[in-house]
Amino acid sequence: WHLTEDQGWRIEIKRYPKLTTVGSVRAQTVVGHPLFQDEDEKVFDGIAHGGFYSQQQVKEVVAYAAARHVTVVPEIEFPGHAQAAIAAYPELGNTGKQLKVWEDWGISKNTLKPSDETLDFYRNVLTEVMVMFPSPYIHIGGDEAPKDQWEESPFAQQRMEQLGLADANELQSWLIQQMDDFLTANGRRLIGWDEIMQGGLSTNATVMSWRGMERGLEAAEAGHDVIMAPTEWTYFDYYQADPEVEPLAIGSYTPLVKVYHFEPTPAGLPSEVRQRILGAQGQLWTEFMKTPEHLEYMAYPRAAALAEVVWSPRENRNYDNFLRRLPRHMQRLEVLGVNYRPPGNDELDAWDSLKQWLFHKAIGIYFWFSDL
Ligand code: ACM
Repeated sequence: WHLTEDQGWRIEIKRYPKLTTVGSVRAQTVVGHPLFQDEDEKVFDGIAHGGFYSQQQVKEVVAYAAARHVTVVPEIEFPGHAQAAIAAYPELGNTGKQLKVWEDWGISKNTLKPSDETLDFYRNVLTEVMVMFPSPYIHIGGDEAPKDQWEESPFAQQRMEQLGLADANELQSWLIQQMDDFLTANGRRLIGWDEIMQGGLSTNATVMSWRGMERGLEAAEAGHDVIMAPTEWTYFDYYQADPEVEPLAIGSYTPLVKVYHFEPTPAGLPSEVRQRILGAQGQLWTEFMKTPEHLEYMAYPRAAALAEVVWSPRENRNYDNFLRRLPRHMQRLEVLGVNYRPPGNDELDAWDSLKQWLFHKAIGIYFWFSDL
């Protein structure tokens, strides 16, 4: 449950009330799809947007899930995707400047200052989080933390020197290791996105492999537990049919058939590697989804396809058979009042398919370079 971001902090932390009084509200939001707009062309809606879950509400969600044998794993983003926290407590930032809760989408350059005070702050946050969430796992994010500010900050540079760290990637790893030690000492286990491998992987970490499968396989080979979450098959914020006829989404194309053919444990893996792959996760980032109905439309039936992938042996999976069983499942969703995209009409023409193929290759190249 992704609870903190650049654009809003969504969980009550009693020790740090400004995380929600300040950090849960942004003054306005960028309109449309900003990733392909020039900075000076961007249009903002002028409408304040906010909200957060009280600790009592969080406990109710956790209990509701537990009664249905579901464990809710919280994610508290660190040391990137944290601009809302810095807006609430500027001393958490590298510049010390008062920032806004971010009004744009994407990856903010404003990362956390690698100080003992920041580490104590996040240990205190996690202490309250652990009371709300009995989950054995706590997700600390770790993705998309640009290193620019650490490169420029005399404090961060001095910190690296004192700790004998070669570069900003190693500083990130050191920070993650501090969180890992803290969670481990508290009887929990850290999960982080695959960027936590950048400067060396911390001891007890479980890796969520989102930029493809390779980093997950690498972590599994090194003896770490892994959850497969690759963009190409498991990002439910991607289009599920022709973008021309679908509501605005972040991009790309992940139709139902693609999700169904996802293979989290590729054939031929040695058993010690296969056993490290705990399962898979579907991602549903909601910046372009303003209503629960839209969110459900993106989630279903792709979530059903992913569930069947992770809960069935490979030899029992059959897409045509799945499609034959799907209408009964859609009836269930209807009874529950859950929206979904009826299957079908999701194929692209040859030209659009080629564009999508090129787009996937471009993302792969971008991920590869972003790790150098
Ligand atoms: C991610 O999509 N940044 C994990």
